[in-house]
Amino acid sequence: MKKVLAEAPEQLGTSQPKALYILFFAELWERFSFYGMRALLVLYMTSELLFHDTKAYDVYGIYTALVYAAPVIGGYIADNYLGNRKAIYLGGIIIMLGHFCLALPFQESLFYGLSFIIVGTGFFKANVTSLLGQFYEKRDVRRDAGFTLFYMGINLGACIAPLVCGYVGKTLGWHYGFGIAGVGMLFGIFVLLKGAKTLSGAGSPPAKSKLNQTLGFGLTPYRLIVIGTFACIALISLCLHFYHVMGHFLNTFGIITLIWVLSIAYRCNQEERKAILTLLVMLLFFMIFWAGFEQAGSSINLFTDRHIDRSLFGWEIPVPWFQSIPPFFVITMAPVISAIWVSLGKRKLEPFPPTKFGFGLFQAGIGFGCLLIGIKTADSQGMISAIWLILAYFFHASGELSLSPVGLSMVTKLSPPRFVSFLMGILFLSMSFGNYLAALFAKIFGAPEQPLQANDKLGSLICFSSTFEFLAYFLVSASIVIFLISPFMRKTFEKHQ
Ligand code: PHE
Repeated sequence: MKKVLAEAPEQLGTSQPKALYILFFAELWERFSFYGMRALLVLYMTSELLFHDTKAYDVYGIYTALVYAAPVIGGYIADNYLGNRKAIYLGGIIIMLGHFCLALPFQESLFYGLSFIIVGTGFFKANVTSLLGQFYEKRDVRRDAGFTLFYMGINLGACIAPLVCGYVGKTLGWHYGFGIAGVGMLFGIFVLLKGAKTLSGAGSPPAKSKLNQTLGFGLTPYRLIVIGTFACIALISLCLHFYHVMGHFLNTFGIITLIWVLSIAYRCNQEERKAILTLLVMLLFFMIFWAGFEQAGSSINLFTDRHIDRSLFGWEIPVPWFQSIPPFFVITMAPVISAIWVSLGKRKLEPFPPTKFGFGLFQAGIGFGCLLIGIKTADSQGMISAIWLILAYFFHASGELSLSPVGLSMVTKLSPPRFVSFLMGILFLSMSFGNYLAALFAKIFGAPEQPLQANDKLGSLICFSSTFEFLAYFLVSASIVIFLISPFMRKTFEKHQ
C-alpha cells in the first residue's frame, strides 16, 4: 500500500502527523470498550450466570483467542479489498453493536455480543496500527515515538475502562457496565468521523479491488463483504455454544497457518528464511508470555474477587478496578524503561530482542512468585493483602514493556518487506494462542473438578496457588531457555537492525 506523508517534508522530525492524534483517541476508545467489558466478563459469567469456573474459563479463553485471531483475516480483507480506513469504520460499528448486545438484559445475548466483538475487532485492531504506519516514511525519525504514544493510548483506555465500567457494572448492574463499554466505542467512531478528512489520504482500498463494481442482483464486492461479515457473526455465535470443541478448530487453524508460514520461508532466499524462522521462534516465547500475563482477566480476576482484602477505610474497592493496575504501571513505567534502554545503548550495552524477551518472561514469572508468597500469608478466612497483587501486576507490566513493543517492531524489522502485514497477522495469532493457553492453564491447574463449597476458602486457595505455581516455573524456565538460545539468533538480529 502507498505510504502517505501528511506533512510537508520540512516538518519531518518535529511534530507528529495529525493522524496520530485521531488514531490515538480512536484506539483509546476501542481498547476502553474491550478492557471495560473484559474486566466484567468472567465475574459476570461466574456470579450472575452461575457458570462453573471451568466453563467460564473455556468461554473466556475461546473468546479472547478468537478476538486476536480475527485480525489475521481482517488484515487480509483490508489489504486486498476494503483498505484500512473502511475496515476500521466497519469494525468500530460492529464492536459497538456487540457491546450493546451484551447490554441487553438476557442471558442469550452473551454469545451474540461476543461474536460481534470478535468480528469487529478483526476489522479494527490490526488495521488501525497499519493505518498509523502509513503516515510515516520507512526511516521517519518520528515513527518510534509515534508508536510509543499510540501504545500509551491503548493503555490509557485499558486503565480508565475497568474503573468506569467496573463501577457501573457493580453498582447499577452488569448490563449497564457492558453498555458503557459500547458508549466508549461510540466515542471512538465519533473521533474517526471527526478526523475523516485528516485520515482520507491513507488506507484506501487497493486499486485492484473495484469495490463498487456491480455483480448483478444489486450486489457489489463491498456489499458482499458486509453480508459475509454478518453471516460470520451468526456462525461464530453458534460456534461459541460449542466452546469445548472450538479448541480443536483453533489448533487446526494454527497448524495450517504454521505450515503456510514455513512454506513461505522455504520459498524465500536463505537470509530471508533465517529471519522468518527466527521470528517464529521469538513468537513462540511471545505466546508463552501472554499465556501468563493474560491470567489478569481470568484466574487473577477471580482470585481478586475471592481472596484479596479489598477494604479501604471501611469501603470495599470493586474487583474490576484492580484490572486498571497493569496498564497504569505500563503508562508510568514506559519512560523509565525506555530511558534504561537509551542509557544502556549509549554505552553499547543495550540488550538485543531475545534478551529483552528473556527479561520480560522472567519478570512475569516473578510476578506469579509474588502471588505465591502472598498466598502463604493468607489469614484464616483465606484473605490476602492487596499489596501482593499490586506487586505481581507491577512485575507483569514491566515484563510487558520489555517484550511487547520489542515484539511489534521486531516483526517490521525481520520480515521481508512483502510479507510484513502477513507476519504482523502471525504475531496476532501467537497472541491469540497465548490467550487460549492462558485460559487452558487456569482451567487445568486451577479449576476444581467439583464446585467447591462457598466457605471452602482453603480448597479455593490451593486451586489458585497451583495455577500460579505452574506459571511461575513455566515462565522462568522459558526465560532461561531463551537466554540460552539467544546467541544463535544474534547474527540474524544484527543483520536486520
Ligand atoms: N495491551 C495490548 C493491547 O491491548 C496487548 C497486545 C499486544 C495486543 C500486542 C495485541 C498485540 O493492544
